[in-house]
Amino acid sequence: MDRIVTIERHIIDQQREHPEATGAFSDLLYDVALAAKIIARETTRAGLVEILGLAGKVNVQGERQMKLDVFANEAMIRVNSFTGRLAVMASEEDTGIIPIPEPYETGKYVLVFDPLDGSSNIDVNVSVGTIFGIYRRLSSIDQAGTLADCLQSGHNLVAAGYVIYGSSTVLVYTTGRGVHGFTLDPTMGEFLLSHPNIQSPTQARYYSVNQAYEPYWSEGVKAYTRWLQGIGDESDSPALSGRYIGSLVADFHRNLLSGGIFYYPANTNRPEGKLRLVYEAIPLAFIVEQAGGYASDGHRNILDIEPKDLHQRTPFFIGDRGLVKRAEAFISKYDEQK
Ligand code: AHG
Ligand code: MN
Ligand code: MN
Repeated sequence: MDRIVTIERHIIDQQREHPEATGAFSDLLYDVALAAKIIARETTRAGLVEILGLAGKVNVQGERQMKLDVFANEAMIRVNSFTGRLAVMASEEDTGIIPIPEPYETGKYVLVFDPLDGSSNIDVNVSVGTIFGIYRRLSSIDQAGTLADCLQSGHNLVAAGYVIYGSSTVLVYTTGRGVHGFTLDPTMGEFLLSHPNIQSPTQARYYSVNQAYEPYWSEGVKAYTRWLQGIGDESDSPALSGRYIGSLVADFHRNLLSGGIFYYPANTNRPEGKLRLVYEAIPLAFIVEQAGGYASDGHRNILDIEPKDLHQRTPFFIGDRGLVKRAEAFISKYDEQK
């Protein structure tokens, strides 16, 4: 008979293996899970506000109905600003760092996040997500958190995760001890362990890329894609299917469970690619590495990159370790020896 494990129980079990843990880290993970429940509730009724004229048009504080990514951002900030667990936050939706407001205490952790990923898909009922990463602060505990606290390399992450708001709401996280998925039971408001110890499948099935940009890719990326499709000169092409949802979290989650690679390469219009390093690529790179996969910018491990700017973009290849390493080999062969 399977145990029923809630995310709180799982976090506490993980904490037990860290005797020095103060509980603040566990509480922070639970705070993020709470924000996820708040966001999930809104995403499942996103289209209804207009149709049913729900009171949601003007919410209880009398604020006008927010766009969902603003709502998600507000939820993450309001759940995490007053707990005394964070020194500072950074979000895709805010230009600068998000300080902890006076007179609230700062804590020892840093939270970076994309509050709503794939937001262009909301109105067409396609899965969207939240991505987050947690660091220990570098700045001293008696001062406000700093930009440097948010620009740490992925090797410093103490936890990372994502939430996918789809046919069900699933929260996947790692604290460096494997990758674990929880499915929300909305009738109880509990995340229940549904995907213990996720491992990147040995057999890949899908490749995910927006092929509309193919004419603007480098020769290496074009050759790599032909290899994936089995129309290159090489004899060892994998026979993969194409799947591209246009929501990074949804594409990543499907490939993590079913096996495959997602890539958003640089192109002549976007020499740095589109996806963001700090709160999209780095947290997912930590997760995929914990599941036995790998993430690269086409040349090196995403986790080795020292961010310079909160919103800097990066070319991004993530998923099955062999497929991502092969992408690096094609780029090295065709693009670096010009
Ligand atoms: P966000 O909604 O947070 O801005 O992210 C959107 C991203 C990502 O979710 C997705 O993989 C990518 O945009 C799709 O971009 P294209 O439409 O250019 O393929
Ligand atoms: Mn995003
Ligand atoms: Mn976003």
